[in-house]
Amino acid sequence: MPQQTAHYLKDYRAPEYLVPAIRLDFDIREEHTAVAAELSIQPQPNAGGTLVLQGSAELVSLAINGQRLPENSYSLENNTLSIPNVPAQPFSLSVSTRLYPHANKSLMGLYASGGNLYTQCEPEGFRKITYHPDRPDVMGIYTTRISADRARYPVLLSNGNRTGSGSLPDNRHWAEWHDPFAKPSYLFALVAGDLVCTRDSFTTKSGRQVALEFFTRAEDAGKVRFGIESLKHAMRWDETRFGLEYDLDIFMVVAVGDFNMGAMENKGLNIFNTACVLADSRSATDADFERVEGVIAHEYFHNWTGNRVTCRDWFQLSLKEGLTVFRDQEFSADRASREVRRIENVAFLRAHQFPEDAGPTAHPVRPASYVEMNNFYTLTVYEKGAEVVRMYHTFLGEAGFQKGMQLYFQRHDGQAVTCDDFRAAMADANGFDFEQFALWYSQAGTPVLEVSGSLQAGNRFMLNVRQSIPPTPDMAAKQPMMIPLKVALFSADEDSFGEPIPFRLPENLSADANTHTEAVLTLQQAEENIELQFEGAYRQVVPSLLRGFSAPVNLHYAYSDHELSVLLACDSDPFARWEAAQTLYRRAIAANEAALVSGSPLPEHRALLQAIDYVLRADIGAAFQAVLLGVPGEAELWAGRKNIDPLIIHRAREALLDLIASHFAEQFAALNAEARRMEEEQSGLAEPYEYHPQQAGWRALRNVCRAFILRASPAHIAEVAERYPQMAHNMTHEWGILCAINHNERPERNRLLEQFAAKFRSDDLVMCKYFTLIAASHRADTPAQIQAALAHPAFSLENPNKARALLGSFGRNVPHFHAADGSGYAFLAGQIGRIDRFNPQIAARLAQAFNICAQLEPQRRSLMRAELEKLAADPALSKDSGEIIGKILQ
Ligand code: PHE
Ligand code: ZN
Repeated sequence: MPQQTAHYLKDYRAPEYLVPAIRLDFDIREEHTAVAAELSIQPQPNAGGTLVLQGSAELVSLAINGQRLPENSYSLENNTLSIPNVPAQPFSLSVSTRLYPHANKSLMGLYASGGNLYTQCEPEGFRKITYHPDRPDVMGIYTTRISADRARYPVLLSNGNRTGSGSLPDNRHWAEWHDPFAKPSYLFALVAGDLVCTRDSFTTKSGRQVALEFFTRAEDAGKVRFGIESLKHAMRWDETRFGLEYDLDIFMVVAVGDFNMGAMENKGLNIFNTACVLADSRSATDADFERVEGVIAHEYFHNWTGNRVTCRDWFQLSLKEGLTVFRDQEFSADRASREVRRIENVAFLRAHQFPEDAGPTAHPVRPASYVEMNNFYTLTVYEKGAEVVRMYHTFLGEAGFQKGMQLYFQRHDGQAVTCDDFRAAMADANGFDFEQFALWYSQAGTPVLEVSGSLQAGNRFMLNVRQSIPPTPDMAAKQPMMIPLKVALFSADEDSFGEPIPFRLPENLSADANTHTEAVLTLQQAEENIELQFEGAYRQVVPSLLRGFSAPVNLHYAYSDHELSVLLACDSDPFARWEAAQTLYRRAIAANEAALVSGSPLPEHRALLQAIDYVLRADIGAAFQAVLLGVPGEAELWAGRKNIDPLIIHRAREALLDLIASHFAEQFAALNAEARRMEEEQSGLAEPYEYHPQQAGWRALRNVCRAFILRASPAHIAEVAERYPQMAHNMTHEWGILCAINHNERPERNRLLEQFAAKFRSDDLVMCKYFTLIAASHRADTPAQIQAALAHPAFSLENPNKARALLGSFGRNVPHFHAADGSGYAFLAGQIGRIDRFNPQIAARLAQAFNICAQLEPQRRSLMRAELEKLAADPALSKDSGEIIGKILQ
């Protein structure tokens, strides 16, 4: 493993040299691109005389105020350029570099994809283009000129407005772009290539016309409509809910097939992974449509939360990402199905962020150090960061939160700031004390709330709450945090069964005080007792805790099965209802596991079956029904455990699914038929953009039913295969069917998958679905099928979407990845080693499949360690992978 240099938040120093303006000239040639950069440098009072710039591009020449610098007048080491004795007055630095975008497989900096050129600069890609401080607190005005062959690169784009274009000799042409807003280098973007443009426009609330331009390959232009509509919805929503209006006259979106992440918010020129912008119902599932809408909104919202106000340094990443995820979640919730969206967000957080927070790479929402910043685009920074923003909202309410946002923009528009600045704006706008709240940014680990409760004298409910934060590799002992705990009380008495009980707030117990049916309690101490008083007397009171998932914590309360069924049936908070069901599922899987370990018969799970019976009959909406039938996944069940045998937990979970499938076989068949009728009845709804949330709900329910039906009777696959063509006009159906039969050992499964691959062989995004199915299957021949997939003409390790589809999915395939002989570990480690040579960022992400190492039982642990040690022994291993693997092995 190479030397690891860490960067620390505590070492932050203000920049010595600013770059308030920069002119870039890209001369695009067949094999290379020549870049001439002219940086206006402004020394600051703290400047020491040596200008330090970051860069890894081939350096051709340097000049100060037009005077060429001889090679012995500067040093270039470890991609750091130091120029001593620079002027103390503002000066101009000319840097010329030479890039080889066609050889760049890291997809950072300037790279080629399908013959076109694209940039990716966040977080530190700009230094692969030219030499620059390349840190977000150095902001400047960019003017960019691009020249290229007209036939190969008819479209030439950069940030801001096009200020000129024209012809050049030799069938070449040029365009010049100017972005009037000062921005950090990570928001710079350039696109050159043969793309078609789909146009629309948006009129802002103050009446300005904004041109909307979506650039895609010609063959993808038919899939762009939904993204454009999503953008218009997002623009309108940001005006109405946040009062934020778009600030340029043009907003461009470019789709690219090779992209490391989801999308990028470059000022005025967003660049999207095709998977996050293209969608039509033939090739995209309803979930894909929802993702496109969410990501389009997310990138658009960054224009204010990220671009107009940006981050002082990369430790503050959650300042823009946590806030922008919160905003996109709220947008999606306002669009449709708020309660289901919230549950999906929580389920996602628990399945992915909780394990991260309990594993070797755990870090606070604001990390204290990093080796490779790319490794910190994490679920903690994004998803837990969004929960942290949501907690301000929970404490302050919508009006108070918006007051805080207004003060934040008033104070910081055009600046690069910190998470503390955001917290101060929320506090100052509301006169609210968020001092202790700062710990949410500095302490990693999911807090645990141990809650007990008792009914006293029939009219008081006493809560005892103890909070603790588990130790993480970066920090052993932690302080109590400020946690919003939203609560309600329900009666389980016969004469008032399921009714909410109005109570007085603990800070106001006087008899004439108002009563509430819900309250946000503020926890601040390691242990506290809270008294909730009410009128009248009750015999059985059930507390509803952490309503709406009011904080990202693990809450334990010793509910009886009966109490859980009361909450599931009667709670007015959809999250709390879902949580009651989740608790029953978790208990049932744990009981199955205990039975498997001791060799006793599996329990009957009467309470759970009764609860499911209720869910299947309840009139609560199809989408809600579908999520209530979702059983927690393995990764979530592992969080916080030691000595895990993944196969036993897997079998315990599968056994529960088998029981549900067989017990409710008839109900699932009936519900499936009903959902089919309802979906068809509503088929008029979707025009013209082919997705409609109500229909999507019915399809989601159908797919849940399908999975249970085929689980109970695998032989049913023959009938499914026959009827398949009727469903093959809509990807949500195709995907649901293929998922339902994907573990089936019968030959029909292979036939259906091969048909699917043949039908979509030239659609890269759908082929990713095919590779996902191959890699996720529990079938015995999966390892062989994965080998075949690696050689499939549509597969490429160099394409992140494909690599993730095949290898990322394999890392989640419990029985095969965790095969007892270690073959799964060896396979994935080998592939990661290959990818690491050209795309360290993707390799490091895939390596996180090994995060579970220290929690495994000893045999698997040592097999896994052996593979990781082999990777770590490679002297050429990237710092990206080195950082992750180093943490896992520690
Ligand atoms: N800033 C992007 C987003 O969250 C994510 C991203 C990070 C994309 C780094 C590319 C590289 O919207
Ligand atoms: Zn973002």
